Amino acid sequence: MDLTGRVALVTGASRGIGEAIALGYAAAGAHVALAARDADNLNSVAGQIKAAGGSCSVHPLDVAEHTAVSRTIDGIIRDHGRLDILCNNAGINTAPGNIVDVPPERFAGVYAVNVTGLYSCCHAVLPHMIQRGYGRIVNIGSGSAYMSKPGSSAYSSSKAAVNTLTVALAGEGHEFNILVNAMSPGSIRTDMNPSADTPASAAVPTSLWLASLPDDGPTGRFYRFMEEIPILPPTDVDFSSGPD
Ligand code: NAI
Repeated sequence: MDLTGRVALVTGASRGIGEAIALGYAAAGAHVALAARDADNLNSVAGQIKAAGGSCSVHPLDVAEHTAVSRTIDGIIRDHGRLDILCNNAGINTAPGNIVDVPPERFAGVYAVNVTGLYSCCHAVLPHMIQRGYGRIVNIGSGSAYMSKPGSSAYSSSKAAVNTLTVALAGEGHEFNILVNAMSPGSIRTDMNPSADTPASAAVPTSLWLASLPDDGPTGRFYRFMEEIPILPPTDVDFSSGPD
């Protein structure tokens, strides 16, 4: 899977899964724009990429700040002349607990990053991708979208929203050769999930494949370790006639 000549933006690239994906994209030949809030951690990831002979740039960014998202993406396009790949990886799980205990502000904080942050990045990059007739968007979703448990309402429902947004975006982008897919990285040992065993590098092959899809590749789908899982619940009911 070759990304030579491509420019990729990875959000949440300062650690964990985003760091691993950024290293993977850079090793595959892309210039990787590294975005997250913490500049020191981003510089450390940039140091690893450069030591391995890769190309990257550092963009301190809070994806919950729409204006900053748009300014950052415009800057990447201006500096590099293109932005081919967007990996929406930034995500948080900071409102665990039963609904009776979690105030709406904490719930909204999760949505601001996991849903609206992802939306903002797509909104900012789409005009450029449409104009160029090329784009690959990789949304880091979660198996939590499929098994909303008590105590997980904010995170699980936000990841279900990622799936729904992925399908909508895929439909809107298809005629412009913009392929949009979601993936679960698996249960990965990171700051967010410290008790897991699997290293973040396990998420790289699927994210790399989705970033390098040929023009006739899949879109609007969900993958976990390269295997497809239905992105929306199958149903025999026809909802296509309008809001229901
Ligand atoms: P992590 O907590 O180690 O890393 C999250 C990254 O997102 C960090 O770089 C952090 O700085 C960045 N981030 C958080 N809020 C941000 C904001 N407002 N603006 C910009 N960057 C921000 O978590 P991990 O595990 O690496 O998670 C990455 C993605 O993978 C998330 O979307 C998460 O929901 C998803 N995921 C993780 C699983 C796991 O087992 N670790 C399982 C399923 C999905």
